[in-house]
Amino acid sequence: MKKTAPLIWENKIMKLIDQRKLPREVIYHDIKTLEETHAAIKDMIVRGAPLIGFTALFGMVLWSRSQKTLNISEVLKAADYLKTARPTAVNLAYEVDRVVSVIKELIELDMGKQEVDQKIEDFSLDQMKLLHEHNLSMAKTAAKELEEKYGTRKLNIMTLCNTGYLACGPMGTALGVIEYLHSQNRIEHVYASETRPYLQGGRLTAYELATGEIPHSITVEGAFSYLLKNKSVDAIFIGADRIVENGDTANKVGSSSLSIVAKHYGIPFYVVAPTSTFDLSLKTGDEIEIEMRPEEEVLSAMGERIAPEASRALNPSFDVTDHKLITGIICENGMVKEISPDNITKIVKG
Ligand code: MRU
Repeated sequence: MKKTAPLIWENKIMKLIDQRKLPREVIYHDIKTLEETHAAIKDMIVRGAPLIGFTALFGMVLWSRSQKTLNISEVLKAADYLKTARPTAVNLAYEVDRVVSVIKELIELDMGKQEVDQKIEDFSLDQMKLLHEHNLSMAKTAAKELEEKYGTRKLNIMTLCNTGYLACGPMGTALGVIEYLHSQNRIEHVYASETRPYLQGGRLTAYELATGEIPHSITVEGAFSYLLKNKSVDAIFIGADRIVENGDTANKVGSSSLSIVAKHYGIPFYVVAPTSTFDLSLKTGDEIEIEMRPEEEVLSAMGERIAPEASRALNPSFDVTDHKLITGIICENGMVKEISPDNITKIVKG
């Protein structure tokens, strides 16, 4: 499949594809500063939990390069600022904290500034490569699970939002599973939920599926019950923005209602995410901060106001799926089917 890289690190500049414009236009923005990185995440030029994390890594590299010397309190200030760009996807804070601890270590070792810059750049590039391996291992775990359930027949799979290479860099989580199944000739059809208001499904997932020549239909969120009642779907795969200790999972808004309908009609519902998306410091989903996005995203479509001027909107960007509704949570270390704090902790620690 020909993939349009969402993030390119070239000549010490980060180039980000503008995901707001896809699939109509392929435009890259040059990101040269910490502030531009923050804005690119907040304004959703770049999105998707793992990719937000990688963008933040390179944002810290850019910041470090802009400094003559490094002192730890300034490093922490830059890190804290970057973490405020979006609140729900834990990958942002996770990657920023990791690069901060690498910088701290190097400062303590009294390493020269240029060497620190090079080391954190290499560290950031390595993380993206590593995710590819992780995504592949998750896809294989999912494929094995489906083979045990359905044999080797072709499958109808449903997904929501965008969890492919545009959200993850090298491959994808839930959409990575679909890409892998397709490479094994095991996809009959994919149903991609369009994901109002930002249309990550209708624009980005559809773009990835079309590029990969994977047969698919876009559905509106209101069609969940129709689709699942008529047994048109064998399994549902979604990604995650934060999975807490008891398995409750924050993901794009609509995930929780999809899981409830899936339970009602007995359709297996899987969450696929790397261990960087787990947050064991939170016990239940009630503790997850849900990002509220601007009302304008709901009141307008394609840049034009569609609602009456007097109307307001409520625009939560995520919701929390109850762990009891999840058939399995898959990460690079395997799958948890009996979802409990102990089992989640075990799998995350590997
Ligand atoms: O608001 P977004 O587009 O950044 O939302 C993130 C998502 O695409 C999903 O919630 C996804 O499942 C997690 S990223 C693989």
